[in-house]
Amino acid sequence: MGKAIVIASGKGGTGKTMLAANLGVTMARQGHKVVLIDLDTGLRNLDLYLGVENNIVYDVNDVLTGVCRIRQALVKVKAFPGLMFMAASPQKPTGEITPLHIKVLCGKLKKKYDYIIVDAPAGIDDGLAIAAGGSDMGIIVVTPEYSSLRNAEMVQKTLRDLGVSDIAYVVNKIDLKLIEEGKAPSFEEITKNIREKLVGIIQMDENIHISTNLGVPIVSMGNTYIARSFMSMADRIRKALEQN
Ligand SMILES: Nc1ncnc2c1ncn2[C@@H]1O[C@H](COP(=O)(O)OP(=O)(O)OP(=O)(O)O)[C@@H](O)[C@H]1O
Ligand SMILES: [Mg+2]
Repeated sequence: MGKAIVIASGKGGTGKTMLAANLGVTMARQGHKVVLIDLDTGLRNLDLYLGVENNIVYDVNDVLTGVCRIRQALVKVKAFPGLMFMAASPQKPTGEITPLHIKVLCGKLKKKYDYIIVDAPAGIDDGLAIAAGGSDMGIIVVTPEYSSLRNAEMVQKTLRDLGVSDIAYVVNKIDLKLIEEGKAPSFEEITKNIREKLVGIIQMDENIHISTNLGVPIVSMGNTYIARSFMSMADRIRKALEQN
């Protein structure tokens, strides 16, 4: 039986979609069967980061409203065997999709795939509740800003209230120069309030920014320090899921 992971954050732009794309690619390259689902309804980006925007016919809403079957909405990400993608609806949320719909969808996918990674919208509104509907674990992405850290506590509480009790953190966009100059919270300050598992730390790196623009996940661009750190992150996430 597979496991589902929702990627969340309080603030927008912390790197959720970048993380979902690269974690999905990393896990698939490690030999697992993975589905990436974009649930940032109306503001979808994951298709662009994976470079599959021209291959989408159906989306999650089509599946959940009976327009198509699950397999018709699963797009093979050809560059990465084992990786499938399901797009979010490009329309604004209309309220017809509920957390239960996603729970049922994830339940079906878990029978066939090892990991379902769900890219959630930013914030703690209905969009998060829907995205977290079928998840076994929540990964909260924070950036080294006091506002992001404060909002993360609320996301954690919201996920717990939604029944996602297994929580892990990723700190993204770490800028060592700013930390050294005292212009960003120190590493100790960032991690001080994080009592849950810290499964990954990602530096601010313009190559990551370029890769999302190009639609080529950074972990596929050779044996870089980023690719290696995503492999360790995937191992930690897998271990954490196995313990539950
Ligand atoms: N470690 C990093 N270094 C440099 N740029 C990054 C890094 N992580 C993400 N970015 C850039 O930050 C921007 C926001 O990233 P991303 O779209 O993944 O965030 P998000 O949390 O999904 O945003 P939203 O809340 O709008 O869905 C993108 O342009 C991405 O390339
Ligand atoms: Mg996003």
